Amino acid sequence: MVEFVVQQQYDQLAKIYDQRWKTYIENTLNFTKQWANIPPEATVLDIACGTGEFERLLLQDNPNQHMLGVDISTEMLAIARQKLHHCSSVRFEQGSATELPSANEQFDIVVCASSFHYFDQPVDALAEMKRVIKPGGKVVILDWCKDYLLCRLYDAVLKLTDPGYRQCYTQSEFHSFFSTAQLTIQAATKIRFGLAWEFMIVTATNTELRKAVLFDQIKLLESNQSPLCLELSQDAASTIGTA
Ligand SMILES: C[S@@+](CC[C@H](N)C(=O)[O-])C[C@H]1O[C@@H](n2cnc3c(N)ncnc32)[C@H](O)[C@@H]1O
Repeated sequence: MVEFVVQQQYDQLAKIYDQRWKTYIENTLNFTKQWANIPPEATVLDIACGTGEFERLLLQDNPNQHMLGVDISTEMLAIARQKLHHCSSVRFEQGSATELPSANEQFDIVVCASSFHYFDQPVDALAEMKRVIKPGGKVVILDWCKDYLLCRLYDAVLKLTDPGYRQCYTQSEFHSFFSTAQLTIQAATKIRFGLAWEFMIVTATNTELRKAVLFDQIKLLESNQSPLCLELSQDAASTIGTA
């Protein structure tokens, strides 16, 4: 139900979205791009991609970057497709963050900017992100941070006035969702843009897959019978809890 409301809201907003939120978009997406540090060969999924601004930015640096943008709003997607119709390495599809239109383990990097506060089931959305990243892939999420006073105010006002809005979170609540979804946080920070906008960002990776990769490396070390390799393999095994 909430998703349907958000979809309608963004369908109506789509034509003026880029202009109305120009500075906000520039600040948040440039920061997200720098933070994510995406290599040109990486395949990228942008969840809640909106009008395709993140894709446009990334293509400026890496014109052949393979990307899929997913959003629930057909009108936001129409703007994104129009903007990037000449780029054959980018596709856009309609879909929900909790039911992504992708098979398992397809992407090196999943990005999601300024949208987590709309998600009705945040842990389910993270579980979907985890499902579609490749072994060793990462998830990068930027969203409003309720640790700040202004965000607490926005949160309270939007809950009363905006039927599509769900809620934003404190950094500690946000991080706890990652551990519930069994994603390991690799890096995290909080950041302000001007006086009005306060965010947090996380890069996370798939815990179990990281363990699986380490497990293989331990086996390799064990197969080499030198004392150093045996010592290293025991250290690694106790780190991931298999010793
Ligand atoms: C504030 S805009 C952000 C767009 C883009 N990420 C950016 O930073 O410019 C929020 C977007 O989230 C999308 N959205 C909200 N809930 C969603 C959901 N459950 N699944 C997919 N997209 C969703 C909206 O349609 C809208 O395009």
